Amino acid sequence: MARRFFVAGNWKMNNTIEQSVNLVNSLQKEMRDMHKVDIMVAPPFTAIKSVYDALSSSSIQVGAQDVFWEESGAYTGEVSPMMLKDAGCKWAIIGHSERRQYFGETDDTVNRKMKAALAAGLKAIVCVGETLEERDAGKAFDVLDRQVAGALAGLGKEDMDKIVIAYEPVWAIGTGRNATPQQADEAHAKIRARVGELFGSKTPETMRVLYGGSMKPANALELLKCENVDGGLIGGASLKTAEFAAIIRAAIEAS
Ligand code: 13P
Repeated sequence: MARRFFVAGNWKMNNTIEQSVNLVNSLQKEMRDMHKVDIMVAPPFTAIKSVYDALSSSSIQVGAQDVFWEESGAYTGEVSPMMLKDAGCKWAIIGHSERRQYFGETDDTVNRKMKAALAAGLKAIVCVGETLEERDAGKAFDVLDRQVAGALAGLGKEDMDKIVIAYEPVWAIGTGRNATPQQADEAHAKIRARVGELFGSKTPETMRVLYGGSMKPANALELLKCENVDGGLIGGASLKTAEFAAIIRAAIEAS
């Protein structure tokens, strides 16, 4: 079954409001002919509204890099799903490995965030991926099984069309070292199989699985041509218009 490619930029902790608006303005100029794929950018919280406004006549969607699970209250520093929607977000990235690594995110908190985001009408990109140590110990697929099941616990089949899974091997993030197409395809197939076990065999046919981890113009096409790779979650290369646009073109070519 044909799945529409999805190319998402995770800007991480980069860009002021002005830099963010400049970046999406230059992206829009580059992307006039790029309607064949879904595109999203996730600026830092402070720039979401300005980016959303700058994209008002564009098909590029806006997402957040994280979200909290409560609706409101005494949770200093947190941002609720409703606040993100209010600022223009359609998507939230949940469970990024940097949040798991540096900010104590667990499968349980990822799951709470998933439920809260979906309940508020956001779509979710949930990130899973093993560390180098886990891969070297032959445990990569066990980690993926656990993270996928943990993130999706208690969700229903009907939620799954609002969820995209990003496979982001931790050893490939920001390192310049990417998974080979074969490694990526195997991991994506494994994720799809796990979702099939949880929700029935039809769900993984339509669910998109993105690859993230040093995806660049030079390696995008070979990764995107893999049967189980439906797009990319791009960090560093999404901060440069020419590189992000080249990856989107690769997705169009691969689709
Ligand atoms: P890089 O593309 O910089 O490796 O980052 C990937 C990533 O973490 C996207 O969420």
